[in-house]
Amino acid sequence: MASDAAVQEAEAAIARLITAPMPPDPYPLYEAVRRVDRVYETPLVPGAYAVTGYREVSSVARMPGMRNGVRAAAMQREDWQEHESLRLFLRALVNLDPPEHPAMRDVASSVFTPHAIKQMRASIEELAERFVGELAEAARTGEPVDLVPALASPFPVAVISRMLGVPDDQGMHCYALANDWTRIWGGSFYSDEELAQADRSVLELRALFGELFRARRAEPRDDLISALVAQHEAGRLDDEDLMALATFLFISGFETTTNLISTAVHTLLEFPDQLELWRKDPDITVSAVDELLRHGTPICGTVRLTSETVEIGGKQIPPGRMLFLMTAGANRDPEQFTDPDRLDLTRNEGGHVSFGGGAHYCLGANLARMEAQVVLPMIINRFSGIEVAGEVQWRTSIGLHGFDHLPLKLTV
Ligand code: HEM
Repeated sequence: MASDAAVQEAEAAIARLITAPMPPDPYPLYEAVRRVDRVYETPLVPGAYAVTGYREVSSVARMPGMRNGVRAAAMQREDWQEHESLRLFLRALVNLDPPEHPAMRDVASSVFTPHAIKQMRASIEELAERFVGELAEAARTGEPVDLVPALASPFPVAVISRMLGVPDDQGMHCYALANDWTRIWGGSFYSDEELAQADRSVLELRALFGELFRARRAEPRDDLISALVAQHEAGRLDDEDLMALATFLFISGFETTTNLISTAVHTLLEFPDQLELWRKDPDITVSAVDELLRHGTPICGTVRLTSETVEIGGKQIPPGRMLFLMTAGANRDPEQFTDPDRLDLTRNEGGHVSFGGGAHYCLGANLARMEAQVVLPMIINRFSGIEVAGEVQWRTSIGLHGFDHLPLKLTV
């Protein structure tokens, strides 16, 4: 039985975790909740549980009786149909439940295949060379370089743009529009002005993607937009699903990978012995990237709604309850990972849950891994010295862990 003080600490931790801005170091907060209970019913949000145990998060992600459409309820707005941005977001693959989810997931998996990802390898290497080269040019001036606008954002945007077939000169504009949109994805923590801006930006994004669909219908190419348009013509996607899937794939392609790259570089600076180890032994790259994904989880959690009574961590949970799956907390669970706060690039203790699990398991996990496996070694080997030089700015959106600004002094 937890003490009153421990319960108070857990409540304060949850209050902090669900209130913007996102704390720069959320990990002690998950630990405070887990100390009280690995599946903790919080009075702060009636009917909701915070799940912080690794075993419990992994098993919930795979349980069939879970629903994702909970995000619709989380929007807490009766007028969501009147907002372009909310309507399209709630049609995104990740927000669908059966029978819509497996149907759209089948289509998505039929175009976003392991083969399509493998084919991106040469492009990823070429783009990484280009961005790291530009970083080196900027570093030669002796001025600090901000890693996020210089590489961590535009590199994944360029990769997903090329994969989908968004022209190079439109990628960053679509990215800016997408950023206005994702600001309203985190629940109800946005202003009326942000919602109005999201609606305007989604309209523009729709027009740009609509134009791309028309162009590829007339003249298909070897890209994913052409493949999606073919699925639409075969009757496997309606107009709205085509738009929702294409725009969601575009955004998923950079939103979290940007966090992975910026957090990884920052984490390596905090563990210089591990940075040196990786420089000396390139063969650890695969486990190194997965350990960085575990240690600095780019999306800290997700939400599910129970649709039937389920048993989680020995507790019977009735239908209609909200579960906050705290993947970042699970990734630092000491019952799963030895000394979980330590970065150990050669760690071999089973998988992390950074890409979720079950029916909604991240479709782009291997694309994100490949990008990081290519670009991170290039960064650490191109620059003999890497230091934080100036004020860093963490992302403020709840649940997204990464940087808006990470100024670095780089020595070529
Ligand atoms: C480090 C980078 C990434 C992380 C940490 C990440 C994480 C996740 C997580 C946790 C989910 C599951 C959400 C849930 O269950 O509610 C997810 C779903 C998804 N991710 Fe990723 N992701 C990353 C990169 C990518 C990339 C590059 C793409 C490529 C387009 C992508 C496409 C998707 C899609 C389409 C889904 C929805 C799958 C579904 O609902 O069936 N992700 N991702």
